[in-house]
Amino acid sequence: MSEDSTTLPEDATENLALPGEDETVGERALHRIVIVGHVDHGKSSLIGRLLHDTDSLPPGKFEELKEVSARRGMEVEWSFILDAFQAERDQAVTIDTTQIWFKTALRDYVIIDAPGHREFLKNMVSGAASADAAIMVVDAEEGVREQSRRHAYLLHLLGVQQIAVVINKMDLVDYSQARFDEVSQQISDYLKSIGSAPLVIVPISARGGDNIAGRSERTPWYDGPTVISALDGFHGHPGIGAQPLRMPIQDVYKFDARRVLAGRIESGAISVGDTVLFSPSNKTAKVRSIEAWPQGSAPDTAAAGESVGITLDEQLFVERGEVVSHTENPPKLSTTFHARLFWLGHKPLKEGDSYKLKLLTQEAEVRVKSIERIVDTQTLQNSPGDAVERNAVAEVTLYSRHVLALDDYGDLSRTGRFVLVEDYDTVGGGVIFMEGLPDQRQAIAVKSTNVISVEHSLTADSRAARNGHHGGVLWFTGLSGAGKSTLAMEVEQRLFARGYQVYVLDGDNVRRGLNANLGFSPEDRTENIRRVGEAAALFADSGIICITAFISPYRVDRDRARASAPGRFHEIFIKADVETCEQRDPKGLYKKARAGEIPQFTGISAPYEPPESPDLVVDTAVEDVSESVGRIIRYIEDAFTLKKRAD
Ligand code: ADX
Repeated sequence: MSEDSTTLPEDATENLALPGEDETVGERALHRIVIVGHVDHGKSSLIGRLLHDTDSLPPGKFEELKEVSARRGMEVEWSFILDAFQAERDQAVTIDTTQIWFKTALRDYVIIDAPGHREFLKNMVSGAASADAAIMVVDAEEGVREQSRRHAYLLHLLGVQQIAVVINKMDLVDYSQARFDEVSQQISDYLKSIGSAPLVIVPISARGGDNIAGRSERTPWYDGPTVISALDGFHGHPGIGAQPLRMPIQDVYKFDARRVLAGRIESGAISVGDTVLFSPSNKTAKVRSIEAWPQGSAPDTAAAGESVGITLDEQLFVERGEVVSHTENPPKLSTTFHARLFWLGHKPLKEGDSYKLKLLTQEAEVRVKSIERIVDTQTLQNSPGDAVERNAVAEVTLYSRHVLALDDYGDLSRTGRFVLVEDYDTVGGGVIFMEGLPDQRQAIAVKSTNVISVEHSLTADSRAARNGHHGGVLWFTGLSGAGKSTLAMEVEQRLFARGYQVYVLDGDNVRRGLNANLGFSPEDRTENIRRVGEAAALFADSGIICITAFISPYRVDRDRARASAPGRFHEIFIKADVETCEQRDPKGLYKKARAGEIPQFTGISAPYEPPESPDLVVDTAVEDVSESVGRIIRYIEDAFTLKKRAD
């Protein structure tokens, strides 16, 4: 089969839904269905029939089909309709044409990822296509086959619970009730063994049009629904509007002084005046306005399925990847999660391997911490193993250095899903289980309740007027040995001599007191920087220029520190490459790290993420100390000194 063989375009994995997808068409409900089943069991013919029997074919298409079939000396061959669509799709450039529509008296249906669409499995796994219901086609003669089981497992894994099984080609088994019962039993047994169940099983012949839109006289023993009435009997989106709010931020647009946070509401609803929580940054603010996207109207409320922009009542530092929720029922925060994963990669997934995780609009590097078990989707046997092969399902634990905002799939199926990407190719996807894992929000959440902040009577302006300069944070970041402490202490002395209020917080010092209980694990470094970020913000608030000298290897941690001192935070990159620092090795630590005596040593066995747009770069590999000190002092004088008034 070619259906899972090519590369998914990068943007197709970005959202849980296709661009432009809507929950309703005009006033009518829209249902997204996926048609699955083993190759040659009749998926294409069924689609041809569904379109014809619901009068959804473009004018002239049926006549065209009759003519083509006649020319080939056959009866009407329903799968040609799909071939014709396929041919049009191959020529077309827009993504919309991968969708095929039909309508019943009740609602509109769109068939997503119809067979023949090469990306079928990938789109299902990546969530580029999320289905409300599925039709599973099984050949009456052949019975349940390999792909029937794999697709059924995938539907179950992805939480598609509304499944209509159709036993096709009943004409080839003389409309035998016995054969129908036999195949029904096979598929029901399989579905039951994976904890799923078909809602209906319909005997059909796509070729003969039996039990598609109308009841067939050739199956008098069958008194269940037709395919169409079965579909119409399924629920619409089961209550995603009533679920907790999840709006992943896709972009932040700056218009004048306003920042508009844009995203698609995946579940729940948001209203003007709501207090919303951003995860993983754990900040809260009130919604000042909602701007419908892109029409520019300003509704009071917006709900699941809508793409909107929101503005807040205060300036928060939030960016793409953050998830908006209410303060009740927020997503969990964690660096680790368990997953049930469907693997599509040509190379097997192995313990210790790293991949790019796409989770809503968040992107992060994740490492496979462990493979708990591998599930054979045919036999449903579980086995231990350290490599997951293509098309296998596995239960794994994944670890990210950064805190992720995520939902347990059992709680919220639309947002509890993720995709793994390697070299721009979707290699796997799955669902999240947080059982047994702590919600790390506890670690950073405000634990105290009934705390109301007290305003100082003394203003920042009065403090600045007394000192002759503003307070602020100069955040030095860089490798150990880059020169952070040396420069910080020198600058402190020189500024003091010029009458500035200045103080240095230095990593090695703070780690002997305030942060004596922290080591160098990623979590401890994060907490180290969080505390220092908060402390530095207090110094800045008191009017002092606070210089911090910490490696602070993670961008998110520095960003959080910036957000703690809004408008007063200056990131200074003390730049020197590892080779230079290692040569200097002022404390002999690189030598020890190389000898394996210091685990997780930054630059050797732990990562350092350089700033993307620092306010100042000081390259100590090329400048000498006095040059660097001079540049920093000039920067500070410029940024902090009160300008003398002209009078
Ligand atoms: S940070 O990563 O959490 O920002 P911080 O700046 O506080 O680190 O502390 C770094 C200092 O701790 C280094 O200058 C070095 O003297 C010492 N140190 C001890 N172990 C390590 C380690 N594993 N990685 C980096 N620095 C270490």
